[in-house]
Amino acid sequence: MAENQLPETKLDTQLDIRLDYLAATPKIIPLLATWHHQQWGHLANASTLAQRKARLKHHLQRGAIPTTFVAWHHEQPIGSASLVANDMATLPEWIPWLANVYVLPEYRRQGIGARLVQRVAAEALDLGYPRIYLYTPDQMHFYETMGWQTSHLRHYRGADMTVMTRDLIVNPPPTVKGSLATPTQPASA
Ligand SMILES: CC(C)(COP(=O)(O)OP(=O)(O)OC[C@H]1O[C@@H](n2cnc3c(N)ncnc32)[C@H](O)[C@@H]1OP(=O)(O)O)[C@@H](O)C(=O)NCCC(=O)NCCS
Repeated sequence: MAENQLPETKLDTQLDIRLDYLAATPKIIPLLATWHHQQWGHLANASTLAQRKARLKHHLQRGAIPTTFVAWHHEQPIGSASLVANDMATLPEWIPWLANVYVLPEYRRQGIGARLVQRVAAEALDLGYPRIYLYTPDQMHFYETMGWQTSHLRHYRGADMTVMTRDLIVNPPPTVKGSLATPTQPASA
């Protein structure tokens, strides 16, 4: 490496990433639905692409459930994460859930997924929820680094899933101060 060249990870952190509600750009719903379908369409009882698009239309709101956040690099959407009432039909009493966590492959391992997850957690706390849930087949370590804990294992949608939970009171997400200070959510999240 040349003497004046920064290590790759330092350059990565200089990416100008912005998070915003999907409500600001409804026209990208088909793109997000395609990402999600390519990623999770193989699971048992998977939604169709059309169902995913229809469902995301209900996410066009701020400060309410369901909602979706989009990560942007300049004018390009590069990631998503949603806050939904329930994501596991067999645990209907557990509310709310983190879902649709996705970052385009070429933008991964630069902290963008973590920012999306923390933003959703902050939204859940803002809305008064003390706890949030998720399930994952293989990303346990990614979530553990942000304070999520394994609740239990469950076979669901044809795969072995780890159900995880995060206590938002004991372990508040780092973005929470800023978002709590603003009673009405600004257009840019
Ligand atoms: C899971 C996913 C959302 C993570 O997104 P991401 O933007 O790569 O996430 P982050 O960069 O915040 O963290 C990912 C890893 O990169 C590491 N990382 C973060 N910044 C880094 C950097 N600058 N340099 C190197 N590594 C870095 C993190 O420590 C983390 O490591 P871990 O996997 O050991 O926990 C992404 O891989 C993805 O979209 N996967 C497919 C969909 C999916 O599985 N979603 C989760 C469903 S439960």
